[in-house]
Amino acid sequence: MENNIYSPDYVKGLFDRMSSSYERMNFITSFGFSIRWRRQFLETFKQTNHKVEIIDLLTGMGETWYATKNKLPNAHLTALDFSEGMLKYAKQKSKTKFNNEVTVLQQDILKNELPSNHYDFVTCAFGLKTFNATQLQTLALETKRILKQGGQFSFIEVSKPNNQLLKTLYGFYLGKVIPILGRLLLGNPAEYKMLWQYTEKFTDAKIATEIFENAGLSTNFNSYFYGCATGFYGTKTEEQRNLNF
Ligand SMILES: C[S@@+](CC[C@H](N)C(=O)[O-])C[C@H]1O[C@@H](n2cnc3c(N)ncnc32)[C@H](O)[C@@H]1O
Repeated sequence: MENNIYSPDYVKGLFDRMSSSYERMNFITSFGFSIRWRRQFLETFKQTNHKVEIIDLLTGMGETWYATKNKLPNAHLTALDFSEGMLKYAKQKSKTKFNNEVTVLQQDILKNELPSNHYDFVTCAFGLKTFNATQLQTLALETKRILKQGGQFSFIEVSKPNNQLLKTLYGFYLGKVIPILGRLLLGNPAEYKMLWQYTEKFTDAKIATEIFENAGLSTNFNSYFYGCATGFYGTKTEEQRNLNF
């Protein structure tokens, strides 16, 4: 099991099973911080009223769509995920809240059919932890491939803070309290415990930042609320940067 937790089939099954409770739990898990973080991780993007193309990778149920549309009101939004369970809610959300204007794609990002040099912006919230280093390299190369020259990207993930007290409290909350809430309220304790195990292994976005930089993307590390979430953002620069894997 330990070696298989990064297998796409395993991850897909996990999110399919969690899909009925994910949105409510997501809100509880971060004391509402996730809403703030979803807004903050888009702050590095240049504001524009142009009809830009944006893709939200690992979109889940479309939790980032409101923040994205606030920042880039005229953007055409594409959303990608491989979990049928999560996408059932995303499609419903596109229909009822977004006038059916979000293009929802069911694809594995590691083996996708997205066009090259097409997107002005790539976003991804809380999806990094279920990738191992090799998969992160593929993710970085795919991000580079699908972005236009000068296109921007931003990724964020729940992380282990450096401060010992915060690390203990946050670890207790995510590792113990959430699975109990998962059982009491929602019936998926094992799945929510698993999310914490991914975060334990992921630690923070520093390695992923290096991987994106080494893929030839100009990348900057970012930290949110004392490292309780971390991420990175950057640009596909005009100059040809070499791979450094
Ligand atoms: C923790 S959820 C995050 C959902 C949403 N972005 C949010 O902000 O809450 C991670 C999502 O990534 C999706 N996912 C994981 N690996 C994937 C892959 N290789 N291809 C496509 N989707 C993937 C899962 O199905 C899940 O919906």
